[in-house]
Amino acid sequence: MVAATILPLLLAASVAAETIHGVVVFSRHGDRTTKHYNAQQLTRLGASQCFQVGSAYRSRYIDGDSPYRISGISEFDYVSSQIYATAPSQGILMNTATAFLQGLYPPLVGLDAEVASQTLNNGSKSISPLNGYQYVTLQGVVGNSPDTIWIKGDDACPAYTEAADAFEQSTEYQTRLAETRDFYQSFSPVLKSVYDLDSPSDFSYAKAYDIFDLINVARIHNATSPARDVSDDELFQLRTLADSAEFGYNYNRTQPARSIHAQTLGAAVLAQLNKTVTSAGKLKFSLLAGSYDTMLAFFGLTNLTAASPDFFGLPGYASTMAFELFSPDSETSFPTDPNASLRVRFRFKNGTDSSLDSFPLFGEKEDSLPWPEFVNKMQPRAITTTAKWCNACGSKADFCAVNDEKSSAASAPSRGMSNAVAGVIGAMVTLGVIMVVGAVAFVLLRKRARKVAPIEATGPVEKGSLHTSGSHVSSEV
Ligand SMILES: *[C@@H]1O[C@H](CO)[C@@H](O)[C@H](O)[C@H]1NC(C)=O
Ligand SMILES: *[C@@H]1O[C@H](CO)[C@@H](O)[C@H](O)[C@H]1NC(C)=O
Ligand SMILES: *[C@@H]1O[C@H](CO)[C@@H](O)[C@H](O)[C@H]1NC(C)=O
Ligand SMILES: *[C@@H]1O[C@H](CO)[C@@H](O)[C@H](O)[C@H]1NC(C)=O
Ligand SMILES: *[C@@H]1O[C@H](CO)[C@@H](O)[C@H](O)[C@H]1NC(C)=O
Ligand SMILES: *[C@@H]1O[C@H](CO)[C@@H](O)[C@H](O)[C@H]1NC(C)=O
Ligand SMILES: *[C@@H]1O[C@H](CO)[C@@H](O)[C@H](O)[C@H]1NC(C)=O
Repeated sequence: MVAATILPLLLAASVAAETIHGVVVFSRHGDRTTKHYNAQQLTRLGASQCFQVGSAYRSRYIDGDSPYRISGISEFDYVSSQIYATAPSQGILMNTATAFLQGLYPPLVGLDAEVASQTLNNGSKSISPLNGYQYVTLQGVVGNSPDTIWIKGDDACPAYTEAADAFEQSTEYQTRLAETRDFYQSFSPVLKSVYDLDSPSDFSYAKAYDIFDLINVARIHNATSPARDVSDDELFQLRTLADSAEFGYNYNRTQPARSIHAQTLGAAVLAQLNKTVTSAGKLKFSLLAGSYDTMLAFFGLTNLTAASPDFFGLPGYASTMAFELFSPDSETSFPTDPNASLRVRFRFKNGTDSSLDSFPLFGEKEDSLPWPEFVNKMQPRAITTTAKWCNACGSKADFCAVNDEKSSAASAPSRGMSNAVAGVIGAMVTLGVIMVVGAVAFVLLRKRARKVAPIEATGPVEKGSLHTSGSHVSSEV
């Protein structure tokens, strides 16, 4: 009887002993239309999934009575200095981040009616639209910004494309291609004539992800599609084969360029955690929205596959990786010696329904490691500057051509803009001053601006469209 009352107290105490100072989250998009046409969009179901996951993060890291609450984080009102959110300027990923943030900081009226309303000097009360909807700032990153590499390090990177294509030369690939030929041919009646797949070679392991995706999406959304006759077992086979193909395109221990996107993401995660450290806990939560291929590459790069073979598999819709920066003890303020007391823990939530489980990084046993050790293990695996990425990729991206001091000093990702972007804008402001001199200067400026202005690339830049060799489909969202 006594033991029964003491035990829960002890458990609660041991949980509360930890103090979380900051969390960095990388999320895959939710359910979407097929990416076959390269015009994929988040569906209503997908938005709900991302919202649900954002709400789960709120329950864990923000709710006032959660033992995992981030130290000092605002419970109801979104505080801009505490939260950083970014996504590539593509509808599906911007909307993924928005839906997640809607769950993280929902409309205030349902949370706390008092915080929701402000009293004006004349005594009347005011509430934001949509029941006190909160506008969490989301930084979009256009395709020709140097900051694009942190989430989409494989885009416009010829070295990546070449390395990924090398997978098709491996015996692993060639064996599977031969062994699964009949299996894939059997789906020809389901897909033929419906989509633009008609040659026999379209039905093979060479299109493992494309075929899985078409059938998976049609089974969820299309009431009249013959894909509904594909059995659960067959879909499982298609998915498992797609797992192996996509992992193959995105990681090979002896060919680092295949996981270049994970190396830049690693730098981004380091930079965001470091911002929490250097600001003594001011920045508390970062959200990055990206693609499953970056996740797979990251699983390989950080040896999570040694922690669980499940990491060889495609993450479900709206899956999230989370990095917690915490003190093992109960602290009331940020530690004065971060190296001595801070630790980092990796967690993964597979889609909407699974729990947010911890896994050891780098093939270790313990599920967390000291902050300086995390830095020492992540840094050598990371690409931390735009200049290094340009070099490693052999990229022809515009920002790689800007070969001055400023661009080589640009480092992973700032709250706001990178030094390289600041440099470009600085240059444009300077040009703007010259412009008043005369019409000749004006023409020059227009030519120059066409080359660098980010506005040019605001259309939906889909990943695949940037690849020079489109023979595989690994690089999609
Ligand atoms: C109070 O001021 C606001 C803003 O000027 C105005 O919209 C509102 O009608 C005023 N209320 C009253 C009761 O005067
Ligand atoms: C990994 O790279 C090595 C060396 O380039 C190559 O021999 C092997 O076939 C590759 N494996 C896969 C699965 O691509
Ligand atoms: C749904 O399936 C039908 C029948 O196969 C096909 O004609 C239609 O194009 C499909 N719709 C979509 C959105 O793929
Ligand atoms: C963290 O940020 C500080 C200040 O910008 C910098 O000097 C340091 O090298 C960074 N550390 C890591 C691990 O990025
Ligand atoms: C996530 O779920 C998918 C589908 O069930 C599975 O194939 C994959 O291995 C899982 N990944 C992890 C890390 O649990
Ligand atoms: C991954 O971790 C396992 C277990 O510690 C280890 O045996 C293996 O060599 C590691 N692989 C890489 C690529 O570091
Ligand atoms: C903290 O650890 C990092 C990584 O090991 C190291 O570079 C840095 O010098 C350390 N800082 C202090 C103040 O000890």
